[in-house]
Amino acid sequence: MLVSATEMLNKAVAGKYAVGQFNINNLEWTKAILTTAQENNSPVILGVSEGAGKYMTGFKTVAAMVKAMIEELNITVPVALHLDHGSYDGCYKCIEAGFSSVMFDGSHFPIDENVAKTQELVKVCHEKGISIEAEVGSIGGEEDGVVGAGEIADPQECKKIADLGVDFLAAGIGNIHGKYPENWKGLDFDALAKIKELIGDLPLVLHGGTGIPADMIKTAISLGVAKINVNTECQLYFQEATRKYIEAGKDLEGKGFDPRKLLAPGTEAIKVIVKEKMELFGSINKA
Ligand code: 13P
Repeated sequence: MLVSATEMLNKAVAGKYAVGQFNINNLEWTKAILTTAQENNSPVILGVSEGAGKYMTGFKTVAAMVKAMIEELNITVPVALHLDHGSYDGCYKCIEAGFSSVMFDGSHFPIDENVAKTQELVKVCHEKGISIEAEVGSIGGEEDGVVGAGEIADPQECKKIADLGVDFLAAGIGNIHGKYPENWKGLDFDALAKIKELIGDLPLVLHGGTGIPADMIKTAISLGVAKINVNTECQLYFQEATRKYIEAGKDLEGKGFDPRKLLAPGTEAIKVIVKEKMELFGSINKA
């Protein structure tokens, strides 16, 4: 069932768990994540970066594929199709393409411009029943060419953006995309607590979910994080399983070269890591 992410995340805040956003790149990724959500009776958010959207030939293709797959696979758990780190233009494209949720990443604009653009998009999204995420304090690391320095968000700025009526808010608390460096200082829970104090029950989003230790994830959830984004970890699981298949020479046996066989171990591996994350986040049986 394709829905906006608002209700599932408000429920998550109330129930002190988090819903995973897993980024998709193609049909295999989408199938693996949707079936895992259904098998575990968990709500789920499919994240699509602008780069992944382009890769899949455009947001319309993505929306059509996801909607058809939900129907063909009888997926009854709540699914949100969400633009990840959207530009201003990207948000409009996804709204038109039939996404149920968007993120407007205005974190690189001066705060006044971020406010003005966010405000406009909140109005447009809500008229159409689409949920919207905003970001304060850029997330470090690199994702599809979007590079951030890993800032700690200013709690007052968070409050300012939260008051615009966004449905959930990503706030930088030392998290970064991709693998964490050896000398990473960890999440800044003091900053998170201060932000939470000012924004109340608005669901908080933790980007860069790959590689954050389980105890930090649990603490973040206890402090109001209700959406956790995971991308790189699915890619690494897919890569490792695919490498094993080739290295074992399986592609040379019989019809092992058939793409449906070649991509199967990677697809199964994504299912394993997605389930693990759903367990850690506490979203199983919360559909
Ligand atoms: P990772 O790639 O580090 O898991 O981050 C994903 C993310 O935050 C998507 O917005």
